[in-house]
Amino acid sequence: MSSSLSDSNNNIPSASSDELQFHMDDDQITIETSAAEKSKASEQQDDTADEIWRNIEHNRVRFPMNRDDHREGLKRATTFKYLNPTGAEGVEVLIPTTDHDSSKQSAPASPMGTDGGGGGRDGESSDKSGRGSLDNKTILKPSPSVGTSLLNLVTEATGAKSNGTESGSSSMMDEAWERLRSSFVYFQKKPVGTLAALDPSAEALNYNQVFVRDFVPTALACLMRVPDPEPEIVKNFLLKTLHLQGWKKTIDNFTLGEGVMPASFKVMYDSYQEKDVLKADFGGSAIGRVAPVDSGFWWIILLRSYTKCTGDYTLSERPEVQKGMKLILNLCLSDGFDTFPTLLCADGCSMIDRRMGIYGYPIEIQALFFFALRCAQQMLKQDSDSNRLIERIERRITALSYHIRNYYWLDFTQLNNIYRYKTEEYSHTAVNKFNVIPESIPDWVFDFMPLRGGYFIGNVSPARMDFRWFLIGNCIAILSSLATLAQATAIMDLVEERWEDLIGEMPLKIAYPALEGYQWRIVTGCDPKNIRWSYHNGGSWPVLLWLLTAACIKAGRPQIAKRAIELVEQRLSKDGWPEYYDGKKGRYIGKQARKYQTWSISGYLVAKLMIENPSNLAMISLEEDKKIEKPRLTRSASWSCSR
Ligand code: GLC
Repeated sequence: MSSSLSDSNNNIPSASSDELQFHMDDDQITIETSAAEKSKASEQQDDTADEIWRNIEHNRVRFPMNRDDHREGLKRATTFKYLNPTGAEGVEVLIPTTDHDSSKQSAPASPMGTDGGGGGRDGESSDKSGRGSLDNKTILKPSPSVGTSLLNLVTEATGAKSNGTESGSSSMMDEAWERLRSSFVYFQKKPVGTLAALDPSAEALNYNQVFVRDFVPTALACLMRVPDPEPEIVKNFLLKTLHLQGWKKTIDNFTLGEGVMPASFKVMYDSYQEKDVLKADFGGSAIGRVAPVDSGFWWIILLRSYTKCTGDYTLSERPEVQKGMKLILNLCLSDGFDTFPTLLCADGCSMIDRRMGIYGYPIEIQALFFFALRCAQQMLKQDSDSNRLIERIERRITALSYHIRNYYWLDFTQLNNIYRYKTEEYSHTAVNKFNVIPESIPDWVFDFMPLRGGYFIGNVSPARMDFRWFLIGNCIAILSSLATLAQATAIMDLVEERWEDLIGEMPLKIAYPALEGYQWRIVTGCDPKNIRWSYHNGGSWPVLLWLLTAACIKAGRPQIAKRAIELVEQRLSKDGWPEYYDGKKGRYIGKQARKYQTWSISGYLVAKLMIENPSNLAMISLEEDKKIEKPRLTRSASWSCSR
C-alpha cells in the first residue's frame, strides 16, 4: 500500500470513499474484505436519518402493539418495574415521562405490561422523542436508603424541561453536548462513532479511535436526547462495526474467530485513492494483544437499545445483522472442556484492558454475556436455522444465572460460611465446590463486608475467589436481571454502607480495593499505569456514573445516583472531563488521564437523562425472567427476604 494515510476523523470531507482492503504493519492485523462485502457496506451506508424514521413509521404498522411474540421485550416502554427491596413481587411503576416538548407529545399512555410500550415510537410521526404521556398513574415505593421516596424524583423529573435545563447543571449539559458532538467521527460524511478523547495536550496514542465499549454511553445519550434523538449515528455505528466483524482477522499467522468484534476502529484518509478508509484493531495493536470479549456483547446490547428506542426492527432483522449476532453467540456457546457455564477469559479482555488479575471468569464479562444472551433471545428471528441456537441460549441463561447467583454472591453470612469451609471435599456433595482454602480470604474483606449488603465478587475458579468489588459487573447484573431482586437491593445497600470506599469524592471506583506492594508486582507485572488507587487498579471513572444511575433506578434507589451525580457536577467540567481520578477517595485527576474523554462526557449525559426521565431505563434494562430458577440456598439475611 503506497498511498499515504492520514487521520480523517472530524469533519474532513472526502472526495470519494470506500472500504479499504487494508494491510497493517507487522505489528497489526491483516484485514481483507471481499468485493461483495464492500458493496454491501456501501449499500448499508445509504441509510439516512429520514430512512430510519420511515422504517420506524413502517414498523408501527407492521408490528401492532399487541403482538405477542419473542419481541415482547423490545417494545418501547413507558412502564417498568422497580425492584422491591422486601423481595416480594416487583412493584409496577408507571413513570410519567418528562414533558420535554409537550407540543409534540401525543403518545398514548398504554400500560402494556411491565416492559411493554407501543412497539417503538408510538407518538405521531412528528414526535421523534417518542416519550410517553404524562397522565400515567404513579405507584411508588419509598427508597429505604435515603428516607425519601421515588415520588420526589419523579416529581422533579416531571418538572424537568429538557437536557437538564431546569437545573443549575444546564450549562454543564450544554457543554457536554457540544463536546460530544465535536468528538463525532465521520465516514463518507456520515457519523459512525466518537473519538475516545479529544485532548489537545496529550499524545493521541489510540485515543483517536472509536472504541466499541466507549461508544455505548454516547449511543445511549444520542437515543435519549430530547427533543431530537439521534439514532442515525447509532445505526451507522452498528453497521460499520458489523462490517468490520466480517473481515478476516489474522495476528501472527493466527486467525481469530469469525465473530470477534473490534476493540476499536479508526477512519483514515487515503490521499492516493482519495477516500476514507477504515483501520480496525481486534486486539493486535492493543496492550497485551488481547481480543476484546466485551465488544461483541456490547454490540448486541446496543442493537437492542436501538431497536427498543426506535421500534425500527428492520435493522435487527436484516440477514447480515442476524448473522453477525449468531457469529458472536457461536463464539461463546461452542462446546469445549468447560465444566462451568461461565466464559473463560484472558486478562485485559474488557474495559480493564491491561493485566489486572481478571483472567479466568471475570464478573464483568459474565454479566455482559448474560445480558447479551437475553437481548439476543428477543432479537433472533425464529426459523429452522435459529431454533437450535435459541434453545442453546435458553439453556445457557439458566445455567449461567444459577452459577453466578450461587457461587459469585458474597454477603456477611456467605463470607462466614466460606471462612468456616472444610477443604478437600471430594464428590458432588461438596459444599466447598471449588476447594477454596479459607486462608486465601484477604483480610480486607472481613472489615469491608457490612452486615447489610452484598455483591457479586470478581471471579470464581478452582481454589480461587477474587473478592474484589467490580462496579461494572454488579451494575450489569442488576440491569440484565441476573441479580435477583434481593441481590440488587443488597448491592445498593453495600454501595450506601461503603460510600466512602466505592464512591468517594469523585465517583466511581472501578474496582475495590487496589492491589498494592508485592501483590501489585505479581498480579499486574509491575504495571506503572496501574499503581495502587490509580487507573484500573482502584481508580475512579466518571463514565461509570451512567451504569450506577441505571442500576439505582432499576433497583428503586435513584437517590443514591443523585448523590453521585451531585458530586460529579462539582468537579467534572471544571477538571476538563478527565478519563479517571486517582487516590483512595478519587480526589486527584488521574496521573495519565486524558482530558475531554468522550465517555466521561456521555456517561454524565446519560446519567442526567435517565434521572430526569426514568423511563429511559427501559432502553438498557431487562425485566426479570420468571422462568429462571431462583437460587436454592439461603446464604444470608439479604437473600432470605426474597423467600
Ligand atoms: C483505555 C481503557 C479502555 C478504553 C480506552 C479508550 O484503554 O482501559 O477501557 O476503552 O482507554 O477510552
